[in-house]
Amino acid sequence: MIIAQITDTHVKRKGQLLHHMIDTARYLKRAVRRLNALRPRPDVVIATGDLVERGRPKEYKRLRKILAELEIPLYAIPGNHDDRESFRDAFGDQPYLPKNGPFVQYVVDAYPVRMIGLDSTSPGEAGGTLDEPRLRWLETRLTEQPSRPTLIFLHHPPFQTGIKVVDALGFRGAAEFADLVSRYPNVVRVVAGHIHRPLQVPWAGTYASTASSTAYQVVLDLRERAPLGIVLEAPGFALHVWSPLSGMTSYACLTDAESAALDYPGFSDLRAERAGRLRALPTFVAAHRSASSAR
Ligand SMILES: [Fe+2]
Repeated sequence: MIIAQITDTHVKRKGQLLHHMIDTARYLKRAVRRLNALRPRPDVVIATGDLVERGRPKEYKRLRKILAELEIPLYAIPGNHDDRESFRDAFGDQPYLPKNGPFVQYVVDAYPVRMIGLDSTSPGEAGGTLDEPRLRWLETRLTEQPSRPTLIFLHHPPFQTGIKVVDALGFRGAAEFADLVSRYPNVVRVVAGHIHRPLQVPWAGTYASTASSTAYQVVLDLRERAPLGIVLEAPGFALHVWSPLSGMTSYACLTDAESAALDYPGFSDLRAERAGRLRALPTFVAAHRSASSAR
């Protein structure tokens, strides 16, 4: 079974660019084309939150229009940039999504790997939360089938990423979540987004990972007081491949070969066009300059 993971697509409404310069919708379209072209084709795509930038209905409308081109079943959960109710409205036609209830959590049972989507968002907060009701729901789900290979997906990584400015946002309930998962060795992977970078850590007796954003990445700066910077490193997604013999193998994938080039062709034009606006984004410019000087 192949589970593709896209994350942090941050789609804006038509005519708007993220931070006045990043065409996140275009990046998502490229990811969709790449996923459709993969052979073997993934069985499912999971989308781990921050699917739009500001949680607005028009953004979701554009998101759904782009995702309509995806020829693979999609399962989505919200991130801190999403609005839970707008998200629910936007994906309301999807049978897997609970129609009501305080959280967007569900189980996908139709595949060899059981998938459990968790809602780690709290309105108005950028950090993660899994409170007692959400963890109790998870425990009930895990108790139902304790020997089936299970993948849990959520937006916020429940571990320290090393990027301090993101870790500082926190995750309430992370220790309790780890304690619960550690009692279920059938959990073969916990996957998240939020950090806009691929990384993997041993966690709660299994492995937890994050994936690249389909659009822009967070600068990898492990200093104690580093500011949050964003950078147009190669966009990507993850493939989690499971087989009964070898278990789960996770791959970090680039959206396409073109984007792997250090000087992404579209960026030079974008930079010239929007030079004035770039000056208003010192952390981005700093990040890009340091990337350029490394070439
Ligand atoms: Fe994000």
